[in-house]
This record gives sequence, structure tokens and C-alpha cells, in this order.
Amino acid sequence: PLQATNTQRPVPKLRSAKHLAPQAAAFKVAVLGAAGGIGQPLGLLLKMSPLISDLHLYDIANVKGVAADLSHCNTPANVADFTGPAELGNCLKGMDVVVIPAGVARKPGMTRDDLFNINASIVKALVEAVADNCPEAFIHIISNPVNSTVPIAAEVLKQKGFYDPKKLFGLTTLDVIRANTFVAQKKQLRLIDVDVPVVGGHAGITILPLLSKAKPFVGFTDQEVEALTVRIQNAGTEVVEAKAGAGSATLSMAYAAARFVESSLRALDGDSEVYECAFVQSELTELPFFASRIKLGKRGVQAVISDDLQGLTEYEAKALEALKPELKASIEKGIAFVQNQK
Ligand code: NAD
Ligand code: LMR
Repeated sequence: PLQATNTQRPVPKLRSAKHLAPQAAAFKVAVLGAAGGIGQPLGLLLKMSPLISDLHLYDIANVKGVAADLSHCNTPANVADFTGPAELGNCLKGMDVVVIPAGVARKPGMTRDDLFNINASIVKALVEAVADNCPEAFIHIISNPVNSTVPIAAEVLKQKGFYDPKKLFGLTTLDVIRANTFVAQKKQLRLIDVDVPVVGGHAGITILPLLSKAKPFVGFTDQEVEALTVRIQNAGTEVVEAKAGAGSATLSMAYAAARFVESSLRALDGDSEVYECAFVQSELTELPFFASRIKLGKRGVQAVISDDLQGLTEYEAKALEALKPELKASIEKGIAFVQNQK
């Protein structure tokens, strides 16, 4: 069901009935922070995946009930629960993909960077455990601020001697999903046809939708570009304010993460046409990490797609330059956090 809107170019092939057979289920996926606002609906969506044989749910509290509940769904994935650091190693052993939405979420008035002090340590400890138990796994970082937590994860993995930049992803899928939704609404397009690459990072002005590269080609007035760009950049805050203290995006994020997991598993399964946007180690700009379209393969990032940064409009080119200082500072803050603890 998630593929119906997976419109990253080129249009992915629909899975054949053969691929959907229960015996195709083979991959092992762990969610760290599985009892949370994102973790619970993400667990449900992953439990529905025919590609997953084992779903490991880890949290510091309340995960037993989530796992018991999910385990009654008559889908192939075996569900197991793990609580607290003593059980983390067993949770992670043999995993193909580890998704990390552990940590605290924003309340109105906060920036994502305000979460750094708590979430930096959480991500560091969890990624250390990934390095110790399943260093080959794809790591999907959801915990904010993504612009810093991904560099934190990279530094931890480097220190452990297990850094593979092709397998570390900051999730920006939600930005693409929002951009696609808002553009389709504005231009009365079919959702399934719309694909907007979103580059940069995952906070405020570092989120840069490239509307000039939107598929299908539609013209936007300058006012439309400005309004759509600002709405996509502030969409997280839109949800935080609507939830009025009860957290940030959880359902749309779970949907976005499930799509990114499914894309990763399809790539691991040998599909050679899987494209997504993600915040990864990159040489596209002078910044060491940058979100852009990537091609996914069996070993992770197979290619970083550079075309989208060619021939930008003046508005996009200016916005790209404007986001770099903030993104650079967030990346450096993450790296320094780990290096200063050596
Ligand atoms: P939440 O508070 O509802 O859930 C977080 C869960 O993490 C809780 O169950 C908590 O017990 C658990 N947790 C805390 N410390 C842990 C640890 N050390 N190990 C394992 N689990 C731990 O929050 P949420 O709404 O699920 O959001 C989680 C994170 O995702 C936040 O940082 C939020 O900002 C981020 N987020 C990112 C995106 C994105 O696009 N990348 C989108 C939405 C939310
Ligand atoms: C989002 O974009 O919804 C997330 O990063 C959560 C947030 O704090 O906005």
C-alpha cells in the first residue's frame, strides 16, 4: 500500500504477486523507541510488510504491551519485545535495518535544536549498540535534530571502526511526502504523479524543496513558490502547534519511515530501481552531509543523484546558499558532541 504514493523518479515497479507471497518475508527490522508516538504506528505498518520476517521492538518502557498487541495481527512478521539497555544487544543481533525514533519531541515554541541536549546522548548510546551488535545494518535516524544526530551517529561508528557512510541515513522522507501532498493540492494533480525532490537538511530553512524540479512539470508563480516553500519548511511546526503540547508529527512520520524501510528492503531484495531522498554523507556540496535524492542498492547508497542541483532557479540557488551556514553549524555541533567525549 505504501508504494502507491512512492513516486520518487523513476516510477518504481509494482511488486508482482510472487513477491507478495508470505514466503518472501525474509528481512529483520528493529525499531528503537518503539513504544512512542512514531514507534507504535510504525510498528503496525512494518507488521503489515510482507518483506519482514522478524520485527524487534525496543524501548526503555511500555514496549511489552505494544508487542503483545501487534503480535495478534495475522501477518508473517514475528514480533519480539526488548526493554532497557540489558536487552538491547539481543534486540539488535542479526538485524538488516535499524530504525531509530527514540528521544523527545518538540512542544510549541521549540526548535528541533532545542532537543539536542537530550536526544544527542540517546542516539549516541543506541548507535554504539548497533555498532556492537549489527554493524552491517542500514541505520535510519529519525530522532531530531536530524542535522546533528546523523553526524553523531557517523562519529560513533567511526570510533567503533564500523562506519559505512552508505548505510547511514537521516530520514527526510516526510519532507518529500509533505511537498508532494501540498503541490498536488495546490495544482490539482493526482497525488501518485507528483514527485518533488527536497534537499539540504531537516530543520527550518535547511529544508529546501526544489519546485522547479517537480514532476510532472508545472509552472509556479513566484508567490506560489514562496508560499509552498515556506509551508513545506514549517510543516513540522504546523503539526506541533496543532497538537498544542502533545508532541509532533507521529502518524505521517510513521508512514514516511515505513516507506523508507520498504524502499530499503526492496533494494536489499535486489530491486535496482529504488530512489528516495535522505540526509547522507555527501560530496554534492562543500558540506559533509546533505539531503538529496539517492539511489538505494544492496549495499546502501549506490549513488547520490547530482542532477537536481543543476540549473536551479535564482530563488532556489539563493536558498541553497542561505541554508549552508545553519546546516554546517548543526553538523559540526553533532561531530563535536562525540569528539569532545573521547
Ligand atoms: P515520543 O516521545 O512519543 O516517543 C519517543 C520514544 O522514545 C518513547 O517511547 C521513549 O520511551 C523512547 N525513548 C526515550 N529514550 C530512549 C532510549 N534511550 N532508548 C530507547 N527508547 C527511548 O516521541 P515521537 O513523537 O515518537 O518522536 C520521536 C523523535 O522523532 C523526536 O526526536 C522527534 O523530534 C523526531 N521526529 C523526526 C521526524 C523526521 O522527519 N525525521 C519527524 C517526526 C518526529
Ligand atoms: C517534523 O518535521 O514533523 C519533525 O521533524 C518533528 C518536528 O519537530 O517538527
